[in-house]
Amino acid sequence: MSLPRIHPVTTNSWKKLQQHFEQIEGQSMFDWFCAHPERAEELSLSWDDFYLDYSKNRVTSETLSLLIELAKEVKLDEAISALFSAEKINETENKAVQHTALRDFDAMPDGVAKTLKRIKDFSDGVIKGEWKGVSGKQITDIVNIGIGGSDLGPQMVCDALRFYNSGLKVHFVSNVDGDHVMDKLRELKRDQTLFIVVSKSFSTQETLRNANTIREWFLGSMPESAMSNHFVAVSANEKAVVEFGIKEENIYPMWEWVGGRFSLWGAAGLSIACSIGYNNFEQLLRGAFAMDRHFRSAEFVQNMPVLLGLLSVWYNNFFNCESECIVPYSEYLKKLVPYLQQASMESNGKRTDRNGDVLNYDSGSIVWGSTGTNAQHAFFQLLHQGTRLVPADFICFKQSLHGNTEHQQILLANCFAQSEALLTGTQDSKVENSYQQFEGNKPSNTLLIDKLTPKSLGSLIAMYEHKIFVQGVIWNIYSFDQWGVELGKKIAKSTLKAIMEKDPNRSKNSSTAALIKKSV
Ligand code: F6P
Repeated sequence: MSLPRIHPVTTNSWKKLQQHFEQIEGQSMFDWFCAHPERAEELSLSWDDFYLDYSKNRVTSETLSLLIELAKEVKLDEAISALFSAEKINETENKAVQHTALRDFDAMPDGVAKTLKRIKDFSDGVIKGEWKGVSGKQITDIVNIGIGGSDLGPQMVCDALRFYNSGLKVHFVSNVDGDHVMDKLRELKRDQTLFIVVSKSFSTQETLRNANTIREWFLGSMPESAMSNHFVAVSANEKAVVEFGIKEENIYPMWEWVGGRFSLWGAAGLSIACSIGYNNFEQLLRGAFAMDRHFRSAEFVQNMPVLLGLLSVWYNNFFNCESECIVPYSEYLKKLVPYLQQASMESNGKRTDRNGDVLNYDSGSIVWGSTGTNAQHAFFQLLHQGTRLVPADFICFKQSLHGNTEHQQILLANCFAQSEALLTGTQDSKVENSYQQFEGNKPSNTLLIDKLTPKSLGSLIAMYEHKIFVQGVIWNIYSFDQWGVELGKKIAKSTLKAIMEKDPNRSKNSSTAALIKKSV
């Protein structure tokens, strides 16, 4: 079973959507709301403890039917079945795509279940102080060394769920910036720190450099034998890990059939399990699993990831929006946007379709954003009065975690007010001049979740994973490879050689050569 290969622009529904777009492009959502008081009720969806209000979008019931027709024409249903099969749908890398198997509590592969048990034992041991440092003291700090998918997911989740922290301090070192590494090491005691090197390939330049620097620092006053108490690895490349000096029993697997940016659900989530405890880690997985079931079984019209994916295609390909903005109204979700940038842009930033042809329509939108209300005092000016149309996702929670009602009410009021202002603009209010005019009619989704818990966060992440998949299916691209990062990595190797050998002329490009010359 492979993914269908249907050129979206050649479908009937795409043509109908184009005509329909021309009819409704100039219409006002505000007028639709006035004419149809049930709009919010009709264009909203409740699932579990999520409430998605997508009524503030430039869509009518006809738009939605046509978008769903498009999903059917490109055989999204077959694609979803293929995603949940063990088939090699990542055809350009000849790999299966099975991150959902890491959280499939109904049919978990043996290796995955065994690894979960090891994650439990390891994290329990470290949290309870049974896993000791070489001097016999308890571990107080965990450092995750990895980059990209081996960093962004675990880091975002640890930060988002720090309310549920087990007591262990968890740090992240990703950038090859030595100043950051040295800065971090200053905070740590060798005999009470555990380093987790996460790298699927165990060949990523940044991770290996950082891991080597940290190992040298550690061995500065510790014997080689102490490595086994203080270094563990998560990788698919056991041989390279052993050569690095980490014992086999301290190696946790990463599977070939799980892409780096989807790896937090498995052993790459070791730092998460240490940070919030295994039970909470399992709740995170169970939340994602619940979303997987929703995605597989709900009718498209009631399917959150499907609707979000279709709306995004609508703006990207018909309104020609270049970007979409994500604004969580919770400081706990500060790192959600960088995480989603990799999830979305590494997946869908592609220009060749599944037939090998260059796209003649746009794919992956640019994802950006920040937390509200801070973002309101930064870039919201452009959302309200700029020349570009930027659809926004507002994410908020009914309850705060620490129970401060006044703050939560202000936070929610701001969140709801912003989407309303984007919708209405300055309809009735008197404005003195065009500088004070808000044209309104700017689209947004609002996702209201009961509470930020491990489970709801798991569902939220899986919702976006599947939204991204839906977009990729419609755009007829391969969403699970990332060839686009390779060229820069290759050039960095020869550039490094030129810098180390102080030989700028190694670079064939006069600009790079001049930069090297100036820097050495
Ligand atoms: O930058 C590309 C990439 O391959 C990502 O997809 C991946 O998450 C990251 O590098 C890290 O790779 P690794 O886990 O092999 O070190």
